[in-house]
Amino acid sequence: MKGTDTSDLWWKTGLIYCVDVESFLDSNGDGVGDLAGLTRRIDYLAELGVTCLWLMPFYPTPGRDDGYDITDFYNVDPRLGSLGDLVALVRTAHDRGIRVIADLVLNHTSDQHPWFQRAQEDPESPEHDFYVWRDTEPPDTSDLVIFHGEQKSIWSKSKKAGKWYLHRFYKHQPDLNVSNRRVRNEIAKIIGFWLQLGLDGFRVDAVPQLLTVGLHDQIENDGLTDPHGYLGEVHAFMRRRSTDAILLGEVNLPYREQETLFGTPPAVELDLIFDFVAMQNLYLSLARGEAGPLAAALRTRPPIDDVNQWVTFVRNHDELALDQLGEAEREEVFAAFAPEERHRAFGRGIRRRLPPMLEGDQQRIRMVYSLMFSLPGTPALFYGEELGMGEDIDAEGRQAVRSPMQWAPDASGGFSEAAPEELVAPVVGGDFGPENINAHDAAADSTSLFNFIRRLAAARRRSVVLGWGSTELLEQPETAVLAHRAALDGQDFVAAVHNFSAEPVETRVLIPDAEPGDELEILVDVGSAGNDAKEPIDAGEHRHRIRKLTVEDDRRVPVALERYGFLWFRPFRLGPDGIF
Ligand code: GLC
Repeated sequence: MKGTDTSDLWWKTGLIYCVDVESFLDSNGDGVGDLAGLTRRIDYLAELGVTCLWLMPFYPTPGRDDGYDITDFYNVDPRLGSLGDLVALVRTAHDRGIRVIADLVLNHTSDQHPWFQRAQEDPESPEHDFYVWRDTEPPDTSDLVIFHGEQKSIWSKSKKAGKWYLHRFYKHQPDLNVSNRRVRNEIAKIIGFWLQLGLDGFRVDAVPQLLTVGLHDQIENDGLTDPHGYLGEVHAFMRRRSTDAILLGEVNLPYREQETLFGTPPAVELDLIFDFVAMQNLYLSLARGEAGPLAAALRTRPPIDDVNQWVTFVRNHDELALDQLGEAEREEVFAAFAPEERHRAFGRGIRRRLPPMLEGDQQRIRMVYSLMFSLPGTPALFYGEELGMGEDIDAEGRQAVRSPMQWAPDASGGFSEAAPEELVAPVVGGDFGPENINAHDAAADSTSLFNFIRRLAAARRRSVVLGWGSTELLEQPETAVLAHRAALDGQDFVAAVHNFSAEPVETRVLIPDAEPGDELEILVDVGSAGNDAKEPIDAGEHRHRIRKLTVEDDRRVPVALERYGFLWFRPFRLGPDGIF
């Protein structure tokens, strides 16, 4: 690769940040976050190092699935602002070097969408075929529902139509029939509309359901005979309209099925895919205090084309899905991090944020983010993660992790001028409440998680190889330790060593193609022996504290880590290849 590739394929490097607009900042005191509020905080995001803002659905909605139930694909939910506010947000973000993508929900509409209303009323209408129908009583499909415990079937009867319609998600979210050419035309028009308003791409919701990929023909065929062809068509159309735009797919499937959805360049389908497999195995590793499960996942992570990217994450706006783990493994994670029934959702996931799961252990929390930022890929944060926010376990279902952003130490968390009881959702109370956790105090405190993550983002910016390199596991003898590197041709690399255990550990990491005596420069370091300050060392901001490691005769570097300690390093170089 060459330097200019980083701007060309901008999504390979950088930091994605997901915002639920109604929960971020309320600019007009009505208790609901809005686009104008988010626009006021663009500089905060720029300071953190965010390069791509991902907006959760902001479209008109009855709000029965936090906006994923859409009634108008061409508008803004009036509670959040107007199309004008959206354009103002996008323009401000662009000015600060931040691109903006939005959720594109194509699998379904709300049952209140005019298309579905019409489809039910008139079987002869073109809209009728926008959805998937069956005339006969469906078989038992309870094993195919996604929201276990809340839904019993993926078919529901429309009294008006006298037929059953398909809905992979809630009953109030009828699935669109994407094999219908008219639906495809609508989808293209929607994509074209938002690109024209300045969006830089989309997070494609529920890709496997949309394309019935990986569902092994378990559901009655909805007529989509060539899902990959169609996804490629969508991508090609988007690129014709905007040469810079991306599709980031939500694909919670095993690697072999995810891999197919990247397409085969030049016939790209998705540019980026969330790495659900590594994420879930990371939690198993944390539960066990052993690197094994994550290492095994990384070993099977398919190599991808240069134009594609994995997106690494540890939490998102949904339940922490654990469905790619075996049943016994999932139980281990539940026992460690969701011991109470109310911590869990749908029998497969956890509705908590990371810091409460780790009981507020600052060193361990930092270890997890260090790991996420050091894995080859592009990291994605969910709002509030940079502060170490907790969840509102009393909130319903997945709303637990969507509580108001905590900006300041007051009763409404600085989120709104409205009284606490008038907010869109209650502010989290207790140890994780705004008194202890808020952006205002965190920004001013050099030892805060916010500033730590900001430094991780800066370390990544100086290390293009983390976005472009391939993943290699480095040999070392300790089961508690994960040693890996992102490498481009072995010469340029960033390596990282993480201790999953609550006990200190000493290990020796083999650096392939290194020579005895080679010097390695430490990039990030918290909790390694020798870093007495216990603060992140960051090459840019703490130049005077730069430390080096030396490769020994057996091509190994000795690394001593405290409990949950970690360290990043790269070849030490001065001159044009050095880091600044
Ligand atoms: C995706 C979203 C989730 C939503 C569902 C239905 O999985 O992440 O929040 O409920 O799609 O749209």
